[in-house]
Order: sequence, then structure tokens, then C-alpha cells
Amino acid sequence: MNQKRKETAVVFRQEQLAEGIYDMWIETGLAMQAKAGQFISVYTQDKSTLLPRPISICEVDKENNRLRIVYRVVGKGTTEFAAYRAGSKIEILGTLGNGFPVEEVAGKRVFLMGGGIGIPPMLETAKQLCGKSAETNIIVGYRNDELFLKKDLEKYGKVYIATEDGSAGTKGNVMNAIEENGLEADVILACGPMPMLRAIKKYAEEHNITAYISLEERMACGVGACLGCVVKTKEKDHHSHVNNARICTDGPVYLASEVEI
Ligand code: FES
Repeated sequence: MNQKRKETAVVFRQEQLAEGIYDMWIETGLAMQAKAGQFISVYTQDKSTLLPRPISICEVDKENNRLRIVYRVVGKGTTEFAAYRAGSKIEILGTLGNGFPVEEVAGKRVFLMGGGIGIPPMLETAKQLCGKSAETNIIVGYRNDELFLKKDLEKYGKVYIATEDGSAGTKGNVMNAIEENGLEADVILACGPMPMLRAIKKYAEEHNITAYISLEERMACGVGACLGCVVKTKEKDHHSHVNNARICTDGPVYLASEVEI
């Protein structure tokens, strides 16, 4: 059962994967309930930054009670996290969000698509799908040849790379990589920047494919406090009767056909 709780956990290990990209394993009992596509909120020790930072779960190790997060340093909060070492205390709230519907894609041909810092949640998703889907093609887009998590992803499916500068794989974006490699799917699970998710929504509509997209890029506080994450939905919310949803509390994963982005 997913019961959210706040705890002071301990950093097991941290290393830098690429320019500004950090890879942290955290020892926490929250690993037991963590699902692919969920996230945790991380609080800073510097109390002048009151709101926590939502960071997606990259990998789960239930046996050793560990969660892995891979994040980009973008401001004060993440700069603080990047300085943590093994043994550092880290205050986290989790596990949050609905996650990807991994069971629903069993036996199907799946695209797992990630762009930039939307790539990390696709690793645990790929791991969960392994042996369950008919075929898993993992299509990931980077700015350049930073290629973080590529080797990890290769354990769970065929990986296709797109880079903005053409330094590795297809020059362009993930849609260009699909086209260049003539790939096909029945279901798409994706996480990444809005332009990428918009392109996937359009592609899914045109090809009559079910697509689940994680809108986590739009989150700010991750805990329902800032209202910075509201998205327009097709259906009215049962409680508020408006066509709005808060990504951090209702998502972050939606059927692409249900949201207007
Ligand atoms: Fe702040 Fe959703 S991210 S309310």
C-alpha cells in the first residue's frame, strides 16, 4: 500500500554522471512501496528554501531498502543535494504520485521514451516491464553525448538515442529516432519536456496508440502547495467539478488523450 510519509533517510552513495547530473542512492524504508514513475520530495537543510524539490524515482532496490534518484542541478536546493556524501542525512517525503501502469502493457509492443531529466524514471519502468512486454524499445533524447543511464537502460531493452547536436545516435529528437529506425508500438510510456510530450500525444493520436505521459517536468513543490502544476483535463474533476488537475497530487502520469498540453 502506498502510504506517504516523511522521514530522515541516509545517503548510501552519490556520484556525478555527467555535467550537472547526479546519481544518488538513498537508504530508506520507502523503497518497499515505491513504484515506477513515482517520485519523492526532498527537503533542503537550508530552511530559507521552504518548499521541497520533487525528484523522480530512477531505480528501486527493495532487497536493500534503497531508492535511486538521478537529477539535474538547477538551483539552490539541488546544489545542496549534490554536495551530500555517503552517510549524509536527507529529508524526504514519499512515495508520491500514481506511477506508470506497468501491468497494463503486458504482452504489448512498448515504447519507453525519455527526454533529458525525464529519462531516469524510465529505468525502473524498463526493469518492471522486462519479460512482461512483447517488445520494449527504449528511445531516449539527450542534449549532447552526456548519455547518462544508457548502459543501465540497455539491460532491459533495445536503446535508441537521439541527440540535439547529433553527437550520438539520431540527430534531432526522439520522434526523429523513431522515424529513422522504423519503430512501431502498441503502447507508449513517456517522460520528458513538454514539447516532447506534445509530439508524443500527437503521434499517438495519429497512430491510434495508447500513450501514458508523465508531466513531472511541470511540478514545482511536488506537495500540493504552490498550484504551479495545474493542467487542463478533458474530464471534470469529481470533487471540484472543473477541468483542472494538479499534476503533483493527481498525476504525474496521465493518459495523453485525457490532458490538454
Ligand atoms: Fe506545487 Fe503541484 S507542484 S502544487
